[in-house]
Amino acid sequence: MTTATDRRNADPLAWQTKKAAQLLVASAKHSYDPRVDVDWDEPLVEGKWFLPEKRISLYGTELYDSLSMEQKLLLSREELGSSLAAGVWTEHILLHLVSRYAYKRDVTSPQVQFALTEVADEVRHMIMFARLAEKIGVDFYPVSPRTHRNGLLLKTFAPVPALWAMLLLTEEFFDRFQREQAADETVQPIVRTVARIHVVEEARHISFARTELERFVPTLSKRRLELLRGFLANVVKTIRHDRYNPLMYERAGLDPKTAVAVGRNNPTGAVNGAYGAERLAPYYKKIGLIGGKSEKVWREAGWLKDQEA
Ligand SMILES: [Fe+2]
Ligand SMILES: [Fe+2]
Repeated sequence: MTTATDRRNADPLAWQTKKAAQLLVASAKHSYDPRVDVDWDEPLVEGKWFLPEKRISLYGTELYDSLSMEQKLLLSREELGSSLAAGVWTEHILLHLVSRYAYKRDVTSPQVQFALTEVADEVRHMIMFARLAEKIGVDFYPVSPRTHRNGLLLKTFAPVPALWAMLLLTEEFFDRFQREQAADETVQPIVRTVARIHVVEEARHISFARTELERFVPTLSKRRLELLRGFLANVVKTIRHDRYNPLMYERAGLDPKTAVAVGRNNPTGAVNGAYGAERLAPYYKKIGLIGGKSEKVWREAGWLKDQEA
């Protein structure tokens, strides 16, 4: 008896076409308009976290323990604000890249129509994240000048294979935390609602990105595969670096230099990284996107564990 995996391996393009058509149907049935599907007038709840407490970058440190409850809540709010801004930046890059993917292809194909649907989803997500930032009362967080410059180059010139690999890495990593936020009753209800909407729509993006990767990774030359692995290792480094945004500490009333140093040395960072990469890293290792020199970066970050050797 042939299994789904056999059929997928026998004809990856036909498999992907079928998958894209299914995802288009799912998009038509389960899409949200955050302008009306989120109750923006719902007041914030006193004493609730903006992120699950254990995910706060300073959690478990002496510095964190010295803060009052009010400061801890404020820090969780600013950390969410900073991550929303990083999310908007990432989605902006991804929608440019997905649009470039669609540009030269047959628009009647389910793949291209799904890619365009994905662009539309990301536009709504960017606005939803911006409105959430406004709702929780944080100011705009600009990305670091280096990330900003790299983003301009990336969205304009990166080869399309880099797109799907980066897309899956960032979406699957953040998806883990959003699922947790959505389920956590100690978190602000409006944060949970936004996370829930995002999780539903991103599940389709993740599913499509996997079909793309499985189709083209085996076709890459050794050199291009090595380049792609190096690129992904750099994305890991950027996520880790930008996580400790000095401005969020400053806005939470902490000395930014001290707080960044404490955050970077906090073992919680590796625990959180491993949690975010738990599904992604073994999958990337399996399909060959982690390997060679790049593997060291993933392991040193704690994102790829020993048993995945
Ligand atoms: Fe999104
Ligand atoms: Fe997405």
